[in-house]
Amino acid sequence: MENKRSSWGSNLGFLLAAIGSAVGLGNIWGFPFKMGKSGGFAFLIIYLLLAVFVGMIIMVSELAVGRKTKLSPIDAYQKISKKFKWIGWLATIAPFLIMSFYSVLGGYVMQYIALNLSELSFGGEQIAISGSAAFTAIRTQPFGAVVFTVFFMILCMVIVQGGVDSGIEKFNKVGMPALFVMLVIVIIRSLTLPNAVEGLKFMFVPGYAVAAGYVAEAPDVVSVLGLAGGQMFFSLSLAMGAILTYGSYLGKEENLVKNSVIIVAADTLIALLAGIAVIPASVSYGISQGLSPAEIAGGLGGPGLLFITLQDVFANMGKIGPLFGVIFYALVLIAAISSAISLIETVSAHWIDKDLQKGETDTRKRIVLIVSLLIMIPAALVAADGLGKSSFTPAALMGIQGNVPDVIGDWLDFMDTFSEYLMMPLGAMLMALMIGWELDPSIVLDEVGHGNSSKGFAKFYSLCVKFIVPVVMAFVLAGSLKGNCGGSATMWYIFAGIVLVGFWIFAAVGKKKAEE
Ligand code: TRP
Repeated sequence: MENKRSSWGSNLGFLLAAIGSAVGLGNIWGFPFKMGKSGGFAFLIIYLLLAVFVGMIIMVSELAVGRKTKLSPIDAYQKISKKFKWIGWLATIAPFLIMSFYSVLGGYVMQYIALNLSELSFGGEQIAISGSAAFTAIRTQPFGAVVFTVFFMILCMVIVQGGVDSGIEKFNKVGMPALFVMLVIVIIRSLTLPNAVEGLKFMFVPGYAVAAGYVAEAPDVVSVLGLAGGQMFFSLSLAMGAILTYGSYLGKEENLVKNSVIIVAADTLIALLAGIAVIPASVSYGISQGLSPAEIAGGLGGPGLLFITLQDVFANMGKIGPLFGVIFYALVLIAAISSAISLIETVSAHWIDKDLQKGETDTRKRIVLIVSLLIMIPAALVAADGLGKSSFTPAALMGIQGNVPDVIGDWLDFMDTFSEYLMMPLGAMLMALMIGWELDPSIVLDEVGHGNSSKGFAKFYSLCVKFIVPVVMAFVLAGSLKGNCGGSATMWYIFAGIVLVGFWIFAAVGKKKAEE
């Protein structure tokens, strides 16, 4: 039975698939816009620290739990933990929620490819459409948005139906190198625009964003921590079962630590490169339009970056603009597909495994179809809502009017807040407490030992998983709750502290019992 379970064709194939899962809208859109929002350099440093001390640790842990159990999240957690077996459900529901808006954004990206293609065929005679005109049109045409969401879902569904090695792995083996080449082309164009250097300074010169007037004041550490923490988890596909699932298809001889380092490094590199592609171009465009630094940062620091500012950048490049538009949005589409397929696989894997255990081996196609159809239900709602342009936003349904917090302002934010900002930090914190305090770090280290056995790593891992990860996650949780729901920082600190201590005790008491 076990040898019928899917597996990767090669370690390289696994790596490209995992990097494909990690590299997505989070890198190309979220990273630059969050960097813009929190003033450049400070965000970068905190992000890098989090990636090494928290991201790496959770990455190794997930891969190890996946490969050790050779199961999908729900069964994997059930098998290793008495007290935390329900995290598996969290790690299956969250990808479902993420897909409900990720597919809509994928559909948007397809619409921008179509738009730039049509401008290309007009040969520059037609005046290129401005970003805000394009985005408003897309948001106020619910039917079109739903149709493109369905297109995107079908594309992803067919790839996942193809199987782990002959669907997912194959797509990434072609898609990831192609994405990289296209990104380099866009970077070259971006950096050769007038005043591009100004954008680089914004990113890499400490304090420059404040000194040059892009942001009024340096943001406080907690807000940046919340923003960078959520971003890091989302970008690395962590704490949501995806990496665990991909790890469950990995062979015993592969080195988990080395693989994790490569995935984290590649994902961070692509995020930085995407920043270098996007930020200098937007700053250059802003200066050419006579915008003030604060206005330029406003265009960078918001969700409009990908769909408004950048479309403006391409629309203002003259004849060649739409061509760069097509290349850019095509690379975003590849990134979105390679991530979406990991989310669909994670949700589907549970039922595929269940059937395998019953001896039914050919049910992947049917299960993936059903999962995709189920995702389409909330996705259609998110698509038709058009980021709050509809009359059925969460706030409207609750009868709340006026200035409402983001989380209930539109359906996309609603899904995003629950999955990215709540379930993800919580999931990571619980996983660390489970491994560090209910079980023992050796559960991961033994598995890691199949392909690597460095003493230094073992010490580093135990320290991080027991102390650093849970505490940092409490800060991230507090920061993201404050950022999304408003209220006072102190209140959210106390809340996150209670959650942390509560689960800490819960985990540690479990351990004592197990030892008795
Ligand atoms: N990492 C992807 C991005 O950066 C999104 C993603 C894919 C994801 N799979 C995931 C996020 C699993 C969390 C969990 O866009």
